[in-house]
Amino acid sequence: MLNSHCFPPLVIRGRSLLPIVQGGMGVGISAHRLAGSVAREGALGTIASIDLRHHHRDLIELCRQSPDTTTLEHANLTALKREIHAAKALGEGHGMIAVNVMKALNAQADYVRVACENAADAIVMGAGLPLDLPEMTHGHDIALIPILSDSRGVALVLKRWMKKGRLPDAVVIEHPAHAGGHLGVGNLADMHDGRFEFERVLEELDTTFKSLGLSRQDVPLIVAGGINSHEAVRTLLDAGANGVQLGTPFAVTEEGDAHPNFKRVLAEATPDDIVEFVSVTGLPARAVKTPWLTRYLRHETKIRDKLGALRHACPTALECLSRCGWRDGIEKFGHFCIDTRLAAALRGDVANGLFFRGREALPFGSAIRSVHDLIELLLTGNTRPAVAARWSFSLG
Ligand SMILES: Cc1cc2nc3c(=O)[nH]c(=O)nc-3n(C[C@H](O)[C@H](O)[C@H](O)COP(=O)(O)O)c2cc1C
Repeated sequence: MLNSHCFPPLVIRGRSLLPIVQGGMGVGISAHRLAGSVAREGALGTIASIDLRHHHRDLIELCRQSPDTTTLEHANLTALKREIHAAKALGEGHGMIAVNVMKALNAQADYVRVACENAADAIVMGAGLPLDLPEMTHGHDIALIPILSDSRGVALVLKRWMKKGRLPDAVVIEHPAHAGGHLGVGNLADMHDGRFEFERVLEELDTTFKSLGLSRQDVPLIVAGGINSHEAVRTLLDAGANGVQLGTPFAVTEEGDAHPNFKRVLAEATPDDIVEFVSVTGLPARAVKTPWLTRYLRHETKIRDKLGALRHACPTALECLSRCGWRDGIEKFGHFCIDTRLAAALRGDVANGLFFRGREALPFGSAIRSVHDLIELLLTGNTRPAVAARWSFSLG
C-alpha cells in the first residue's frame, strides 16, 4: 500500500480511500484480479458485471451444453458472485470493491441484486440515467455512484434522488472526448462541447449544489477520461475534484484480467489507430482500429443500408442489451454482436475482437507495469524501475 502522498482522501460512505478509482471495463477486462489488486492498494476497484462467465471454465462448459438465455444469464450471475468474493479476498479488507452495471443491460436489476446480496461495497451505474437505483437497492447498505458527463445530468439525478431521500455517495463525471468504451453523448459531433470540460462541470456543480442546499462534501466528484500523469491528477484535484477514475491505464496493468494481446493492442496503439463509431447500443464508442473494426467501418454504410432495419436472432442467446441495433433492426445504431466481439478481445483474438480504449497516451507508454506502480506514479510522480511481471493469464 502507498502511505505517503500529498492529496486528501476520497471519502465514500464514510470510508477513506486513495483518490484513485479504477473504472469498470467489460467484457471481463476488470474482473476480480484487477479490482481486488486496486482495492488492496487502498483505492476503489471496479468489477464490470457484464458477461463474466468467460473467466469460469465450468460455466462456459455449462453454457455450451445448454445454450439458452436462462442458462447463460444464470451462469453470469454465478460468475459475478464468485468474482465479488474473490476480489474482496484479494483486497484483504483495504479499499472498496464496486460493481459496474450498465443501465442499457437487460439483466441490470439482477446484477444490482447480486452485487447487494454479496456485499459489494458500491454500485457504479452508467450508459443511461440511473434514476431508479435507490429503489433497486432499498434496504441494502451499499454506496451508489452514477456515471454522468455534464452538470445538467448530475443536477437531474440529484433532484430525482433527493425526492426519494437519497443522495449519490459519489458521482463519476466522464469526458466523452477522452474516455474509452461507450461515451455519454448523443452524437459524435458533440463530444468536444465545452459543457463536458471538467473545470466547467465542477464550477457549474458548485452552483447546483448551493441551489439544492447541499455542500460539496455531501457528494464527492470523480472525474474520468484521459487522465495519464501525476500533473493531471494534481490539476484536477486542485480544481475541486475529489478523485480521478482511469480505465485504459488499469486495463494494461500486469493484474488486468485480459489476455496479454489485449494489453499489447491498447498499449501500442498510436493516436491514428484510435477511432470513434456508433455502437449497437446507439451510443458512440471509442476503440482501437484492429482488423475487424477496420473492416466493419469500411462497410458500415452498406451494412446499414442493406441490413439496418432487419431484425435478427441474438447470435449468443444472451440478449445482453435491452435495445440492440443488430437484434432489433434499429437502423441508426451499430450492427454487430458486441458481446461476441468484446469476448474475442478478452481472449486476445486480435483479428476478431473489439478493443475499447481511451484516446490519450498511457502513463508508462507501451510498458506493462503493476497496479502499485501505476497508483504510485499518479499520486507521487515517482516511477520505480520495472520488476519482472508476477502474473500469468488464464481464462476459466
Ligand atoms: C476496455 C474498456 C472497457 C470499458 N467498459 C466499460 C463498462 O463496461 N462500463 C463502464 O461504465 N465503462 C466502461 N469503460 C470506461 C472506463 O470505466 C473509464 O471510465 C474510462 O475508460 C476512462 O477513460 P480512460 O480510459 O481514458 O482512463 C471501459 C473502458 C475501456 C478502456
